[in-house]
Parts: sequence; C-alpha cells; structure tokens
Amino acid sequence: DRSIKIAPSILSADFANFGAECEAIEGQGADWVHVDVMDGHFVPNITFGPATCAAIRPHIKGVMDVHLMIAPADPYLEAFAKAGADVLTVHAEAGPHLHRSLQAIRALGCKAGVALNPSTPASAVEYVLDQIDLICVMTVNPGFGGQSFIESQVEKVRQLRALIGARPIHIEIDGGVTPATAPKVAAAGADVLVAGSAVFKGGSVSNPAPYGENIRAI
Ligand code: DX5
Ligand code: ZN
Repeated sequence: DRSIKIAPSILSADFANFGAECEAIEGQGADWVHVDVMDGHFVPNITFGPATCAAIRPHIKGVMDVHLMIAPADPYLEAFAKAGADVLTVHAEAGPHLHRSLQAIRALGCKAGVALNPSTPASAVEYVLDQIDLICVMTVNPGFGGQSFIESQVEKVRQLRALIGARPIHIEIDGGVTPATAPKVAAAGADVLVAGSAVFKGGSVSNPAPYGENIRAI
C-alpha cells in the first residue's frame, strides 16, 4: 500500500558510507530516511550525534527523520535541528518534561515526534496530542536492529489511532518491520514504517537493487 511511507533506518547501513547509502535507498524508493541516535545511557548502544546528521543531510533529498534515543534530550535539540532534521522525535521516557521538549522542537522549526517504548501506554501522549506531528510506536526495545516484532504493540497502535481522532498525526512503527508484520500495523492505523534489517539485507551501495525489492516487499 503506497499511502504507507517506508523509512529505512540507516542503523543497518554501512557506517563508513552513510552519504552513499542515503542516496541509494532514496534512489530505490524510500520515502523518508530514519536516523537512529543512541547515547549508551538511555539505550545500551551508541551510534552517532548531530555532526554525523549534518554530514549526511546533503545526501538526503526528502525527509530526514531523526529518532533521539538519548537522555536528557533537551540540551541537544537545537544541534539536531541545525543539523537539518525535518522530524525530531524524543522518547516519552527520556525526561520529566515531555511537553516542554515538544514545544522546543516546534520552536526550532521541526516536526515534533514522541516515541513510546513497548512498556509505555498509549495514554502517555494523551495530553500532548496538540503538540505533536508523529507518534513512534517502538515494536522492539530500542537499541539494536534485527530484533523480533513485539505483537502486543498492534493493540497500542489501534488505541493511538482512536485517541488521535482527526488530528494530522503520523503513527510510525519502529522495530521488527517485515513483509509479515507490516500489514498488521498498517491495518491498525500506522502510516510510516521504519525498517532497518528488512531493507538493507542482500544489498549494498554497489548493488542497491535489493534495497528496492525489499522496500516493495514491505
Ligand atoms: C531500534 C531502532 C530502529 C531499529 C529498526 O532501536 O530505533 O530504527 O533498529 O531496525 P529493524 O528494522 O532491523 O528492527
Ligand atoms: Zn528508530
């Protein structure tokens, strides 16, 4: 269903070749590019920061979707906005003042997203719905690519879609998205699917055609 956007996560790309990888996935039909920032504190893995985001920005024509798995997030929001994030997503669990973080993101000119860990209920966003443009439902525990989809999150997507009502808010799914799991979350109301391992498997910068096949299979 092409009203569903596919956002490949460069967490599964060649880390020595981010610019070329972003161009390759966009060339193969990716709608957004999903950028996973991890701090080794909020999640048990470390990726990269705003300087890397700024370096890859010129290699992305479309939406750069930056997922911050960092705590605290507030001191770094401006740096990621300046790096060129279009969507800037913070975790609801990352700090005590989610509403303030979201106000700051919009004041910096970015679309504001909230990510929810698998154990966090849909109700965590109930009182910030007018401050957000995207809800990212984590369908794995954040930190690593290639984990299995947590089925219980499909019901959360359904609840969020009902809670959102007519507001123009994207529901993004992050983790374990495959051709087998994608239809379930799409039916429940998700419209942006992040996929790392399922997009990058079998391809490379010098052989990008599998990226396109993988994207179309989702
Ligand atoms: C997990 C990240 C992801 C995830 C997606 O912490 O936010 O974007 O790695 O990877 P796959 O699709 O391999 O589960
Ligand atoms: Zn992510």
